[in-house]
Amino acid sequence: MKIIEAEHYQDMSEKAARFIIEKVNGLSAPVLGLATGGTPLGTYKCLREDHLSHKTAYQHVYTVNLDEYVGLAPYDENSYTFYMKKHLFHHIGIPSSHTYLPNGMAADLTAECERYEALIERLGGVDLQLLGLGLNGHIGFNEPGTPFSSKTHVVELTESTRKANARYFDSLSSVPTKAVTMGISTIMKSKQILLLVSGANKAGILARLLSEEPHEGTPASVLNMHENVVIIADRDALSAVKERSMIF
Ligand code: F6R
Repeated sequence: MKIIEAEHYQDMSEKAARFIIEKVNGLSAPVLGLATGGTPLGTYKCLREDHLSHKTAYQHVYTVNLDEYVGLAPYDENSYTFYMKKHLFHHIGIPSSHTYLPNGMAADLTAECERYEALIERLGGVDLQLLGLGLNGHIGFNEPGTPFSSKTHVVELTESTRKANARYFDSLSSVPTKAVTMGISTIMKSKQILLLVSGANKAGILARLLSEEPHEGTPASVLNMHENVVIIADRDALSAVKERSMIF
């Protein structure tokens, strides 16, 4: 595990974007695993700006997102499909046929989970998986207690995650109660993982994940078992980490 300290959110975002652009330029058909939420917004902005100024090409890139709410149509402003189009896909010239998210409107969600898992395999697996970190240690929508062996599955969202995401909705009651998420074993199959963490409110959970033995109570602690993880975290997020020797 490599930990890179960034000065602040903007610096973290720039460093993350550079990391992603290297993958995009370095592989003939890279598969990027993408995340939503507040953390990667700055990174996506940097990718948009870079595409404008340096013409980085995305025609050869494939993307698979971590998760999608159940019951929100792709045109719903709160769906992750809408988020990805708005913040990234519509601006970088990636063919829409190369961008995949779980279908939260599927009539048969179990079949949808199997389809998504098979799709990732058909693409040859994820080359670089971008992750944010939930306040309770969730990754994707894998809440504490999710088996490390889990594949793409339907999850019942916890109250704390629904409350954290309510800022994007009119009210807490309009936040969906379920989502489809890549499972922990799906995420762990990625060849490389890039975890982004920003802000003092994430300092406690980041310190825990770095100091704990992997256990299912803190889903992100599983990353200690992956051999190719890079964490880019800003100074505030790293403020509770005692073991400074591992930080670059
Ligand atoms: C998003 C996702 C979530 C978020 C996490 C952190 O696709 O899977 O695990 O990464 O909830 O969210 P933010 O970045 O809003 O703090």
